[in-house]
Amino acid sequence: MVNVIGLGYIGLPTALMMASHGVEVVGTDYNAALVDTLNAGRPTFKEDGLEELFQTAVDAGIKFSHEYQVADTYIISVPTPYDKFSKKVDPCYVVSAAESVLKVCPKGATVVIESTISPGTIDRSIRPLVAAAGFTTGRDIHLVHAPERIIPGNMVYELLHNNRTLGADEREYGEKVKALYASFCQGEIVVTDIKTAEMTKVVENTFRAVNIAFANELAKICRHENMDVYEIIRICNMHPRVNILQPGPGVGGHCISVDPWFLVGDYPSLAKVIDESMKTNDSMPDFVLNRIYEIMREKGMTDITRVGLYGLTYKENVDDFRESPTLQLLESQERHLAPGLKSYDPFIKRDLVKNQYHDLDGFLDAVDLVVIMVKHDEIKRQMGKLHGKVVLDCQNICPMPGVYHI
Ligand SMILES: NC(=O)c1ccc[n+]([C@@H]2O[C@H](COP(=O)([O-])OP(=O)(O)OC[C@H]3O[C@@H](n4cnc5c(N)ncnc54)[C@H](O)[C@@H]3O)[C@@H](O)[C@H]2O)c1
Repeated sequence: MVNVIGLGYIGLPTALMMASHGVEVVGTDYNAALVDTLNAGRPTFKEDGLEELFQTAVDAGIKFSHEYQVADTYIISVPTPYDKFSKKVDPCYVVSAAESVLKVCPKGATVVIESTISPGTIDRSIRPLVAAAGFTTGRDIHLVHAPERIIPGNMVYELLHNNRTLGADEREYGEKVKALYASFCQGEIVVTDIKTAEMTKVVENTFRAVNIAFANELAKICRHENMDVYEIIRICNMHPRVNILQPGPGVGGHCISVDPWFLVGDYPSLAKVIDESMKTNDSMPDFVLNRIYEIMREKGMTDITRVGLYGLTYKENVDDFRESPTLQLLESQERHLAPGLKSYDPFIKRDLVKNQYHDLDGFLDAVDLVVIMVKHDEIKRQMGKLHGKVVLDCQNICPMPGVYHI
């Protein structure tokens, strides 16, 4: 039996996927309200294909509980934030979940850490817990790291099709966990050692962050020169070995805006490019705010409360708003003591920020300058509603003439 610990954006679909493919699974989360919702037959967030997957898993017998189970295999998928001061990974949730597992697990159990962690975290933070619980790794407890690569918005497809990496102390247990993931995963599953697996996951997200930062830096240079960054990138990308990403209003979510900091925290004198890249990405919400003030001056607008931000989530067509550029921009604006920007997001039903609207028409009626922060399908379909508005398009999706860009 597999006990999945942490039923959030990663743990829940993973547990459902395994249960749907014949594995006996109990999902555990210490958030009782979340467990109650799941037991009432409702998934806790929106994602393409998740409802169907949920139903299949329930029919196959998945159970949800707030208690840790006696199981052969544990999969820990809890948050791994970074310490804002040291930039290092903050492993407190993983440590606490592992401590709870070690109180109930039988000898011989396999403990898989799925959470993203910096290289060496299992050595520094998990092995000592195993020893303190009176177990010996490799005999009583088998440790495996199985980082996850899926992207919100396409999670179900990617769980089935992505290649995966597993890190294990012992080849035999690496292969055992590989067979478990292969129950549903059609991609290639590479088995390596634990520290290499830890490093690969952080490096993958760091590669993305650095490349996004390059595009963002180009956007700033082109703004300075009053040149069209999108045209420049389009032409450069016709070179056979150039593939520049698109600039944007910043980076959010719990991966690309977080994980590269782990390397900066652990290797401050070495991770220079990464450090600068993260700072560049983090500077983008402020860059957009300055752009808003520039455009207002150019248009003779004086009332910031007539400016509206379209999109509160960190990416299109999902309801995850963690670390989103729009929230960063609003926080920055509050710090500058000039609150009043309006906002709207079709995926955020509850009141998240001040001056938030819950319908597109009401939002557009209330503003003169619309800032497209997120390229949800809704606004792509309803572009016509932006006629007559001043538009700052941070996603380069609006084909109308006279649109401003970052
Ligand atoms: N969200 C993503 O897109 C994504 C993608 C790849 C990897 N990851 C990584 O996966 C890990 C999990 O991220 P997430 O987005 O699923 O987080 P999340 O916040 O959505 O979910 C974590 C869940 O763990 C529960 N939890 C925390 N500590 C617990 C404990 N001790 N016992 C039981 N339950 C506990 C919380 O209540 C929460 O429901 C992180 O390391 C993240 O970096 C996330």
